[in-house]
Amino acid sequence: MIQEEEYAKRRNTLAKTLKKHSIAILFSAKAKQRSNDTEYPYRQNSNFYYMCGFKEDNAVLVIVKKEKKVKTYLFVQKKDELLELWTGKRVGEKVAKNIFDIDVVLTTDLFDKKVQEFLKDKYNLYFDFTMQDERVDKLRKIGSHLSGYKNIASKVARLRLCKSRDEIKLIKKALSITKQAHHIAMKKAKSLHTEDELQAELEYVFKKEGAYSDAYTSIVACGNNANTLHYIKNDECLKNGKLILIDAGCEYEYYASDITRTIPVSGKFSMAQKELYSMILDVEIEIINMIKPGVMRTDLQKKSEELLCKGLVTLGILKGDIDKLIKKKKYKKYYPHGIGHWMGLDVHDEAPYKDKKGKEIPLMKGMVMTIEPGIYIDEKDMNVPKKFRGIGIRIEDDILVTKDAFENLSRDIFKEIKDIESL
Ligand code: GLY
Ligand code: MN
Ligand code: MN
Repeated sequence: MIQEEEYAKRRNTLAKTLKKHSIAILFSAKAKQRSNDTEYPYRQNSNFYYMCGFKEDNAVLVIVKKEKKVKTYLFVQKKDELLELWTGKRVGEKVAKNIFDIDVVLTTDLFDKKVQEFLKDKYNLYFDFTMQDERVDKLRKIGSHLSGYKNIASKVARLRLCKSRDEIKLIKKALSITKQAHHIAMKKAKSLHTEDELQAELEYVFKKEGAYSDAYTSIVACGNNANTLHYIKNDECLKNGKLILIDAGCEYEYYASDITRTIPVSGKFSMAQKELYSMILDVEIEIINMIKPGVMRTDLQKKSEELLCKGLVTLGILKGDIDKLIKKKKYKKYYPHGIGHWMGLDVHDEAPYKDKKGKEIPLMKGMVMTIEPGIYIDEKDMNVPKKFRGIGIRIEDDILVTKDAFENLSRDIFKEIKDIESL
């Protein structure tokens, strides 16, 4: 769990980056209507949650800075017996005041009036530009009368780059559940009939073990379906002799995990599948071993392209001079995506890759990134030896940058051929 002191510390750090005379406004996520009076499951906005840990809808966090003095406000929805009968208990302003280390807790119906009061003085107004709804539109209008408005999202994003000890604990917990799910998938694949049946097995483990939900829609792609990078239909049969690419991870207490394993339906890899899989696994391990503070993500990208390109030549999938092939980016057809991304409250964490001057940010202690090389060969690709056609393989782990190297947070999730086959 993230302690209240940590949230308070984050707010103080954020306040320090604001101009002397400022007001920062962060809204909770809005419930999304599915149809009529039915809603999608509610998930708090990550930036809002990061700054205060409040889980309910219709809430606003306000940070007011006057010279060096900082005052925080949290607006929460009013207690309402009738509505609570339908949608569940609300924390309410009285209890919220006890739980949260916030100077003033008010009900959300007072927010509009209060904002007008705050803005009587000419403040710099900060809000989240990534949000698009009528609450933000109103602020834009107000902001145009002031000295202008600024984006708070990019400032929060910078704070989110490096994870604290307690955040890492939550990611580890998410991964321990995701591990169970992937191992169950390895055990059961042979006995199941369809991709969505396998998806259900994974997500059953997520829920049963206390994860809020998946961190993104699970990809369960058998055979050639794995060559669609974000395949989420998951409605086809599992065919003996084929591989299944499973990209699935749970979200635990708002923290993501993001894991891909590629396993044989039958329980045994064919020779061709083994050849391609081993090549990608070797590359994945080599790239992970490069990770330490100071290294650039683009170095990892470049190295992964070189190694995969070499591997493709060795296997006869690409032909020609390796240096020329790399220069002409011929591997792109088979390795079209990046080596990895930041991960945290969001699977593709909203943290920057470049600093304010546009310079790449090197790896630093506390960052968490995925490493996920993959090779995808369409079944109709006549340039490739027949035995490799219709195979898509990705192997993905979640890596913490430590003081002088890295910790593979998902090292216990089987990926060696012999281990996968043993299950
Ligand atoms: N699961 C999405 C990704 O690997 O980036
Ligand atoms: Mn990923
Ligand atoms: Mn993934």
